[in-house]
Amino acid sequence: MTQWDDSQTKSVSEDITEESNALPARYFTDDDVFEMEKEKVFGQYWVYAGHANSISDPGQYFTRTIGDRQLIVVRGHDGDIKAFDNVCAHRGSKMVEDTPMTDPGDAKRIKCPYHLWTYDLEGELKSTPKSFD
Ligand code: FES
Repeated sequence: MTQWDDSQTKSVSEDITEESNALPARYFTDDDVFEMEKEKVFGQYWVYAGHANSISDPGQYFTRTIGDRQLIVVRGHDGDIKAFDNVCAHRGSKMVEDTPMTDPGDAKRIKCPYHLWTYDLEGELKSTPKSFD
């Protein structure tokens, strides 16, 4: 992390907010702006989720929250990368715990911890315990 000493910070103009082209502070704190960004940006365009090299082997995955949605980003058995909502299709349980890109998880299949519905790395439901069919 960059450390600034006094000589560097004193060189910045005291009128920096008037002189800069930066967005007004409310763009970083206003809930209405955040809601607009979720709809107009995260909901409509491709968004960087992480680097492909962090999940180089089939079965490796990480989680990433974009807007209000947490995603599982996984390298499939076919070598392609897919992203799924981290939500079980059965009753909406969270499928996997938060897993950072820097310490990816590894799974042959993804099993919901609640009722054990199990999905393959392509997102297809592969098995359910008989009691929850
Ligand atoms: S909520 Fe996932 S198996 Fe029931």
